[in-house]
Amino acid sequence: MERYSSIHRNAPFYHLHTKLSLFFLFSLSALTSHLASSQKWDGVAVTKSDYRSLRAIKNELVDFRGVLRSWNDSGLGACSGGWAGVKCVKGQVIAIQLPWRGLGGRISDKIGQLPELRRISFHDNILGGEIPPSLGFLRNLRGVYLFNNQLRGSIPPSIGNSPALQALDLSNNLLSGPIPPSLANSTRLYRLNLSYNSLTGSIPAGLSRSPSLVFLALQHNNLSGSIPASLSQLGLVQEISLGQNRISGAIPNELGALSTLQKLDLSNNAINGTIPSSFTNLSSLVWLNLEGNLLDGQIPETIDRSHNLTVLNLKNNKFQGPIPPTIANISSITELDLSQNNFSGEFPASLSRLSNLNSFNVSHNNLSGSVPSLLAKKFNSSSFAGNLQLCGYSSSTPCPSSAPISLPSSPSPESVAENHTRHRKLSTRNLALIIGASVVASLLLLCCCLLCCLMRKGSSGSKQKNGKVTARGALGKTEKKASAVSGQPDVESGREMGGKLVHFDGPFIFTADDLLCATAEIMGKSTYGTAYKATLEDGNQVAVKRLREKTTKAQREFEIEAAAIGKIRHPNLAALRAYYIGPKGEKLLVFDYMPRGSLSAFLHARGPETIIDWATRMNIAMGIARGLNHLHTNENIIHGNLTSSNVLLDEQTNAHIADFGISRLMTAAAAANVIATAGTLGYRAPELSKMKNGSTKTDVFSLGVIILELLTGKSPGEPTNGMDLPQWVASIVKEEWTNEVFDLEISKDSTTIGDELLNVLKLALHCVDPTPSARPEVEQVLQQLEEIKPELAAAAPLAESDAGAEEHLPTTAN
Ligand SMILES: *[C@@H]1O[C@H](CO)[C@@H](O)[C@H](O)[C@H]1NC(C)=O
Ligand SMILES: *[C@@H]1O[C@H](CO)[C@@H](O)[C@H](O)[C@H]1NC(C)=O
Ligand SMILES: *[C@@H]1O[C@H](CO)[C@@H](O)[C@H](O)[C@H]1NC(C)=O
Ligand SMILES: *[C@@H]1O[C@H](CO)[C@@H](O)[C@H](O)[C@H]1NC(C)=O
Ligand SMILES: *[C@@H]1O[C@H](CO)[C@@H](O)[C@H](O)[C@H]1NC(C)=O
Ligand SMILES: *[C@@H]1O[C@H](CO)[C@@H](O)[C@H](O)[C@H]1NC(C)=O
Ligand SMILES: *[C@@H]1O[C@H](CO)[C@@H](O)[C@H](O)[C@H]1NC(C)=O
Ligand SMILES: *[C@@H]1O[C@H](CO)[C@@H](O)[C@H](O)[C@H]1NC(C)=O
Ligand SMILES: *[C@@H]1O[C@H](CO)[C@@H](O)[C@H](O)[C@H]1NC(C)=O
Ligand SMILES: *[C@@H]1O[C@H](CO)[C@@H](O)[C@H](O)[C@H]1NC(C)=O
Ligand SMILES: *[C@@H]1O[C@H](CO)[C@@H](O)[C@H](O)[C@H]1NC(C)=O
Ligand SMILES: *[C@@H]1O[C@H](CO)[C@@H](O)[C@H](O)[C@H]1NC(C)=O
Repeated sequence: MERYSSIHRNAPFYHLHTKLSLFFLFSLSALTSHLASSQKWDGVAVTKSDYRSLRAIKNELVDFRGVLRSWNDSGLGACSGGWAGVKCVKGQVIAIQLPWRGLGGRISDKIGQLPELRRISFHDNILGGEIPPSLGFLRNLRGVYLFNNQLRGSIPPSIGNSPALQALDLSNNLLSGPIPPSLANSTRLYRLNLSYNSLTGSIPAGLSRSPSLVFLALQHNNLSGSIPASLSQLGLVQEISLGQNRISGAIPNELGALSTLQKLDLSNNAINGTIPSSFTNLSSLVWLNLEGNLLDGQIPETIDRSHNLTVLNLKNNKFQGPIPPTIANISSITELDLSQNNFSGEFPASLSRLSNLNSFNVSHNNLSGSVPSLLAKKFNSSSFAGNLQLCGYSSSTPCPSSAPISLPSSPSPESVAENHTRHRKLSTRNLALIIGASVVASLLLLCCCLLCCLMRKGSSGSKQKNGKVTARGALGKTEKKASAVSGQPDVESGREMGGKLVHFDGPFIFTADDLLCATAEIMGKSTYGTAYKATLEDGNQVAVKRLREKTTKAQREFEIEAAAIGKIRHPNLAALRAYYIGPKGEKLLVFDYMPRGSLSAFLHARGPETIIDWATRMNIAMGIARGLNHLHTNENIIHGNLTSSNVLLDEQTNAHIADFGISRLMTAAAAANVIATAGTLGYRAPELSKMKNGSTKTDVFSLGVIILELLTGKSPGEPTNGMDLPQWVASIVKEEWTNEVFDLEISKDSTTIGDELLNVLKLALHCVDPTPSARPEVEQVLQQLEEIKPELAAAAPLAESDAGAEEHLPTTAN
């Protein structure tokens, strides 16, 4: 336990051998369990029949790296965490998770003899052979993750017999044959990803009978036929990706009914006809890619009803008529490609209003008029080329009207036109634009009974553990006891719904099941609870904070506060992406994972050869000041516990303040406890020993201490000569104005940055003034920092709206 008690030196914990599923960790009582042990022991040995199946599975795998070496004993270890990747409940295997293990060979058909199996994860290996048809026998199967392998043959139709199936991801294999219509029988399916295979035949119309389908990804196959109109019955669908197939026919008008659709990718098919008028009803649409088809007709003028659109790609079709000026109303648009069509008419000047646009192309159409100078400056001439009568987008295409005396209708230079005509012929018609981005998804999934069941069984298992049933003897007894203990919760799980996962906007797609089955490593503990780095099935990483039990507010209040915090977005604040409340009230908060850890670890737990230069330190200080300023002025939130361990760093060492607003989720007593702890660490303003509540001035004090920490390289938690950090710095400054306070590696540059160092030091001392009223507000601190180092002020991270748009960028690794 002591090994995890340090709250601000969390970096070393990255390397602990603790890699457990969150589900398991979650089912242990936070304070009494031994998190360091890698045991998943619920006190029950694996059943004989499951043992035999596991052995058979091992036999057919080719284990190049010896990752299955642990599957060696007579089965005693299989369910106690001894066998890599195996999870059990009551002696029966519920999950086999062996992604990224370099495994070859094939998946044994004996896998169908693990009756309780819920999750199979072998993605990112080099498995060959076929998908075992016996999967269809598994009544409890929920997740099948076999993507990024070399599986061949067709998809066994039997898989549709798994009534509980929620996620089927077979993408990026060598599968052929049709999509089995039987999949329609999996009425709980929410993610079907069969992309990047060689599937043939048409899209089964019956798929629409999977009412819970949220993601339908069939891109990069060899599918033909037309788009079934029945897809319009997918009332929850957020993504339909059918790009890069041989789909033909028209887009069914019925699709306009998909009111939850966010991403529609039909690119590079042979789809003809027009954009159905019903599309103006797709108001949730974020991403529309129709590139490389045979579509004609006009863009509906009412396209701006899809007001959240960020990507609109109509490249390489036969669209005609004008570009509707209403596109300029879709302020969220970042990518607009209308090239290689037959659009005509005046270039709409209104497009220059699209301030978030970072990719734009109208080349090779039949547009006329002049390009607004704003757009001409932002995009190079290849975005506009190939429009005979368009001018003003490059120095070689001056607009007649911009010359002093010329007629408004005079034609543009012939020679340019000729050159562009040539280009047009050369341009590749079927340029593949592969956009593998995942659309932001705020999903609330119907993952009910499963979780409840998992949680119940898991926690009863942990009770066994805590009841010290660890000896390997007495197994028979243990088994009985376990079923007796779990008997009661099982009954409960029947009527009680499982946990609740609430997403806020963010780049990751996951379900509660995904979250609980993620691999977790402890990053550190704090007064609020334990923080984990969790790796989701798809390889994405998130930071999960498990709040200490009995310290949080009641569920209703908690949810209201969490919803408020989940709305806060700023480039220097760690965004709350989701929260999860377990069936017994356990609470998890999900944040972006910050690869470089905390500022505290960055400063104090680095190797001697790692140098942190002055610009980096200043950038961090400014980032913290910006984030804190946003909290104080825009959100009216006092942080209350600003420390260098609560400042996280991203890949570019930009600061993200964590833990803001968390005190609002806690009971008053727990929040007070945190303030007390902050005192022991040297960040607490002196007046807080008398007062209970923090203020903007106590936050500024903490900021001052962090700036001193950046300047001196000293940890405020370690007193020097019996003085805390502010006192120590003040004492040196008082005696003689020397360089001694500064961290050696920056003071050696003092000839060039000396003034900056001194000015920042003065500012920091101002912040830690014992008298609250003498301290500046954070807005002034920020302003002064920016005056001291204006070149960094100019390079400030994106404004909030831009940062929001950035979240729609691709996040899934392929
Ligand atoms: C099985 O493998 C584990 C881990 O590799 C090892 O510690 C153990 O001694 C092995 N047991 C047998 C019976 O080989
Ligand atoms: C779906 O299941 C029912 C019975 O459960 C079966 O009769 C039917 O054939 C199945 N449908 C498909 C398309 O396999
Ligand atoms: C797609 O299917 C057609 C026949 O249906 C076949 O001729 C063609 O080679 C296939 N293409 C690929 C890339 O598999
Ligand atoms: C659209 O494509 C389908 C199938 O390829 C074809 O039958 C139909 O005639 C085409 N329609 C138009 C308007 O080109
Ligand atoms: C859009 O939806 C409304 C109501 O849902 C419906 O009445 C209308 O016909 C739809 N518009 C089109 C063009 O389909
Ligand atoms: C558009 O996006 C905003 C925030 O990103 C969201 O609140 C809103 O619900 C979205 N609108 C639609 C129609 O999906
Ligand atoms: C949309 O754009 C048109 C033309 O640019 C403009 O007249 C109209 O007022 C805009 N509507 C909104 C809601 O911004
Ligand atoms: C382009 O559109 C015009 C009408 O705006 C039409 O006359 C012409 O035939 C179209 N050209 C092509 C190649 O489709
Ligand atoms: C371009 O548009 C004009 C009308 O604006 C039309 O007369 C002409 O035929 C079009 N050119 C092509 C190549 O489609
Ligand atoms: C615009 O599109 C054309 C053809 O579609 C392409 O050649 C050109 O490189 C594109 N320009 C930009 C800036 O994307
Ligand atoms: C058109 O192309 C020719 C030869 O490729 C070149 O000499 C000429 O400068 C080009 N004209 C313009 C205006 O780009
Ligand atoms: C589907 O799989 C592909 C390839 O593995 C991946 O890039 C894509 O993000 C996946 N989409 C969904 C919705 O799972």
